[in-house]
Amino acid sequence: MSSYFYKSIVQICYGLVLLLNVSRLPQLSSAEDSSAYTFEANKIAVIGTGYVGLVLGAGLAEWGHQVICADILQEKITSLQNGELPFYEADLDVWVNANLSAKRLRFTTNIDEAVQNSDIIFVTVSTPSKSDGSADLFALESVAKTIAKNINGQKIVCIKSTVPIGTTRRIQTLIAENMNQNKFSCDVTFNPEFLREGSALADFIKTDRLVIGGDNPSAVKVIADIFHRLLSANTTLINTDLESAEAIKYASNAYLATKISFINEFANLCDVTGADIDTVAYGLGLDPRIGSAFLKPGPGYGGSCLPKDTLGLVYQAKELKVDLKIVQATIDANDAQINRVIIKLKQLLGEDLNNKKIAVLGLAFKANTDDIRCSPALTIIAQLLAENVHVTAYDPMAMNNMQKVLSGLDCCSSIDAATAGTDAVIVLTDWEEIKSLDLSRLRQLMKTPILIDTRNLYDPQKLDQLGFLFSNSGRPIKKH
Ligand code: UDX
Repeated sequence: MSSYFYKSIVQICYGLVLLLNVSRLPQLSSAEDSSAYTFEANKIAVIGTGYVGLVLGAGLAEWGHQVICADILQEKITSLQNGELPFYEADLDVWVNANLSAKRLRFTTNIDEAVQNSDIIFVTVSTPSKSDGSADLFALESVAKTIAKNINGQKIVCIKSTVPIGTTRRIQTLIAENMNQNKFSCDVTFNPEFLREGSALADFIKTDRLVIGGDNPSAVKVIADIFHRLLSANTTLINTDLESAEAIKYASNAYLATKISFINEFANLCDVTGADIDTVAYGLGLDPRIGSAFLKPGPGYGGSCLPKDTLGLVYQAKELKVDLKIVQATIDANDAQINRVIIKLKQLLGEDLNNKKIAVLGLAFKANTDDIRCSPALTIIAQLLAENVHVTAYDPMAMNNMQKVLSGLDCCSSIDAATAGTDAVIVLTDWEEIKSLDLSRLRQLMKTPILIDTRNLYDPQKLDQLGFLFSNSGRPIKKH
């Protein structure tokens, strides 16, 4: 009887241990918990004030933390100190200004001071593509050295910049080698960011997953605790090693890019078979194993992440003698998709574009952002200008940015001004203003009614009735 009793107790205890292991927060031994990190993790530095850093800094301040956002660019920091944002992201200015006023958020170019006065240091500097496709880690490494030199107590570094697999571990070593005082500990963790431009605030508040990579469970717990609000809102915490956390980010962006290239190629097939890509994507997406997101065809994916991360991933894999054929094909298909826009234009307008007047509606890589990084518009407009086309353009937010990099482009103050007297119009971005334009008016304003609707914003029947000669992405005119 007593042996049965003890056996049951042991089984219950074992069951409890199992339960604890699968619960959502990492389980720490009390020794690790109390001895490793004693601070309250309220003092936070965010180094790098791009989209990720600024949303993170303002968001954490909104949650009540004391946040210092640091960046080497004086001009950017001066604007931010005055509550002016260096880019457009809906409502981010509200968070920034409210927290500047509440003195929970401040901006500085003094990275030394930001590190010294913080317990947690998030690193959100950019890791752009080099010309060979590899990720440029110069900014990250230089920030790591600055952090190392300024460690004056227990600190946790959390890298959020997207990096090749294995980078965080190398940064950890770099910091350890460059520390002036080795009496303090400094764990380095990796927490990938999944927010999308244009809906960054909503993505900050609500995310499906919180991925934290790290060797020390105590450091991981401190980072998880910072995001505890997310965990109470049905977010799954993945507490893993550094390499897997880095790989999750690369895999996510490569998979999203692959889905887009897949649907774009399928739309091209629909163009010549008469199948309707909307119906195909709907039917495809209803399979829960596939899902309906990221199945909208377009001119090709752009932005600061998908193009850069697919290239970086393929580069790293090649270095390690691993052939990522699917990701490489995704990149190739995307390049071809962007080039296809001009091919479609020439099919309708003729091969010779010399002296034609063509309007491009939408310059940003997607709606609700002023970001033109890797936007298909860059390649398409450059090609039109090279063929001596008079290119007019309209975008609600991105014209200033485009004019900084492309000279010879005639940016106009309205859709009407951009499209009046044109030989053709190319629609590249799905801004609501462009989607809801008056097609009859457009038809009247244009010299010849040729329209390339890369985003399928307009009803093909309606375009046909209005007398447009048009091309879209896999949506035929219905026969009945
Ligand atoms: C992406 C990831 O979604 C995000 O998780 C990561 O943190 C950063 O990279 P972002 O670049 O802001 O976010 O934009 P996203 O909404 O993913 O769109 C990327 C590109 O794909 C855009 O050019 C968009 O127009 C295109 N796209 C997206 C399509 O062509 N079709 C789709 O169905 C979805």
